[in-house]
Parts: sequence; structure tokens; C-alpha cells
Amino acid sequence: MSYLGENASNNGNEKPMRPRMSTARIRKMKSEGTKISMLTSYDYTLASLVDEAGIDIILVGDSAANVVCGYSTTLPITLDQMIFLGSAVRRACQHSLTVIDMPFGTYQVNDDEAVKNAIRVLQETGADAVKLEGGELIAPAIRRMVKAGVPVMGHLGLTPQSVNQFGGYSLRAKEEAEAQQLIRDAKLLEQAGCFSLVLEKIPATLAKQVTDSISIPTIGIGAGNGTDGQVLVLHDMLGLNKGFKPKFLRHFAQLAGTVENAVSDYINAVKDGSFPSADEQY
Ligand code: KIV
Repeated sequence: MSYLGENASNNGNEKPMRPRMSTARIRKMKSEGTKISMLTSYDYTLASLVDEAGIDIILVGDSAANVVCGYSTTLPITLDQMIFLGSAVRRACQHSLTVIDMPFGTYQVNDDEAVKNAIRVLQETGADAVKLEGGELIAPAIRRMVKAGVPVMGHLGLTPQSVNQFGGYSLRAKEEAEAQQLIRDAKLLEQAGCFSLVLEKIPATLAKQVTDSISIPTIGIGAGNGTDGQVLVLHDMLGLNKGFKPKFLRHFAQLAGTVENAVSDYINAVKDGSFPSADEQY
């Protein structure tokens, strides 16, 4: 399936022109059976590369709290910080749909505040949509956001903002009661107007069951191959995060070693006086 829009022309260039991705197109990809690719990004330079490579969705995840800021949970990152990162990423996105995580505490207090904060994210970053963690409890806030014109991606299963409730990051919904609640939540989020749904770290059979029971696309992380798309944290899949190798993660590159070798070569070249060379000065 090509991603060329009806009126797109590539003017004889080898690479087909890519129109900007939309939430409507993401929804359609499910009915067409086209898998959805999503990765996180947190800065302009890497987001430009990810966008140019052809990703469908760039998520400015609140995993920035871990990856960018070094916190052990996603809880400390603020709305202002997400807006700062989100606007940098949005400037890089020529084609991909840009989705920004609403951080902890910005949509749970009451629905008015939730809608106001979601509108602020879209207004101040230019992003296409927001993502929120949770089911039944936040469905009314999501309904109001969607009515106000804010596209929303849901997030169920392992929801890292609830780490203190779960007591860790282990597999969710192994037991029947939690699995049934997750299926109910997925249907509620669909009814509330979510255009898609992230399923994190749940059994593959349950993720497939959820995917088959709703009309909006599911995007899995640690949820098997039966979802409509996949998402990974960019720094993890690039192998930049040396100590992190959960079962669901594939390293598509080993950049930690590449960066360390480059930095060590630079240090040696500075120390032995071989950098800069005659050709590298004015
Ligand atoms: O914050 C994040 O990076 C996420 C993805 C793991 C889905 O929510």
C-alpha cells in the first residue's frame, strides 16, 4: 500500500512525495490492514531523521522524563516541559502525525482543567493530538476534549504514570478480571472518541482480542504482533540505553558503542594534538 495521496506527484524524483499524516488516515489504515509505525522523539534533530525515514506517528512521550531528564519515573515531567519538547519535535515533523503525552496531574483533577490543558498543548506546540493514560475514569474528559477539537490517543495496560499504584512495571492484565476491565476500557475510549489506542505490556492474546473488538487502531508496545501498529522508545530501539533490554525490545542499532567510540576517538585526537589538522583550520 502506497502512502501517496490521491493528488500527490513526485515530479520524477525517486522518493514518492509524502502528504502530511492525519488522524483520519491513521484510522483508515486499520480497515486497510496497513500496519502503523510509531516511535518517540524528544528533540528537533532526531525527530527530523525519524520523520524523513517515513514513520507514521512521532510520539513526544512523557518517557522524556526518563530518557531526556534521567528521572526513574515519568511523574516529575511538567506540562511546560512537555510543551517545550513538543514544539521542537513538531517543527521537525514534515509528514508524520505528532502526538504529545499529557503529563501526570494535568488531566486527572477535573474535566475543565483537562480540556484546558489539552487545548494548550495543541495551541502552543502545533501538534496534531494528545495521548492520555487510563480508561473509565478519564473517558468523560476525553469525550470533552474530542468535542472541543482535540484528537486523543488512549493508553491502556501498563500505564507508567500509575507506577505507584501498580508497584512496578510488570506485565498487566494477566488475570481474567483485569483483562475484562481492559476490554471494557478500550470500548469506552473508542466511544469517547479516541482515534487510536496504545496497548502497553499485556499478553499478546489479549491485545489481539482488544484489537478485534474495537474499530479504532491499536498500537502495541510489549503487546505482541496482533495489534494494528507498533511503538518503541527511540533511544531504546537505537541501543542508546545500555542497561535496558526487556523481552519486547529489539535493538535495531547499537548506537551506545558507536557514540562511546566516537567520543573516545575525539578525546584521543585532542590529547595527541592531531585534531584539528591543517585542513580543519582557517
Ligand atoms: O511515554 C512514552 O514513551 C509512551 C510510549 C512507550 C507508548 O507512552
